[in-house]
Amino acid sequence: MDYPIIINLPKIEDSRGNLSFLEEQKHIPFVIKRTYWIYDVPGGQVRGGHAFKEQQEFIIALSGSFDVIVDDGIEKKTFSLNRSYYGLYIPATLWREMVNFSTNSLAMVVSSTHYSDHDYIRSYRDFLNYKGL
Ligand code: TYD
Repeated sequence: MDYPIIINLPKIEDSRGNLSFLEEQKHIPFVIKRTYWIYDVPGGQVRGGHAFKEQQEFIIALSGSFDVIVDDGIEKKTFSLNRSYYGLYIPATLWREMVNFSTNSLAMVVSSTHYSDHDYIRSYRDFLNYKGL
């Protein structure tokens, strides 16, 4: 897949509380190398604002809500994440920002790569160059 897409995850409904899960290469199209999460985001703050050369990722709002703006250099799409039983798959080489975090929101990011500073494209100009635009 070379475009961002919302993926619905299994949801096991139970009077004791619901349960969702994901398995690599089954519910998401990559092998998981890392998981990180973003929390305690002050109102109005923006996270992301970069692209990755290799990293594919899957972002879930485990709690609260936020928007992810994905940009291929030509077109921007905004995805609102606000449930823990679906997430947004983002392939590599797309610019993305995370905005509009609600109070107490918790963003979990499942990544196809280990952390590497070299994988980041941090300037939008460099991103457009990388895309040949
Ligand atoms: P960064 O990816 O720039 O945050 P965001 O895109 O959400 O604004 O990461 C912020 C800092 O955390 C940066 O100094 C790198 C460090 N970091 C790690 O050390 N390991 C990781 O897995 C991640 C995601 C970030």
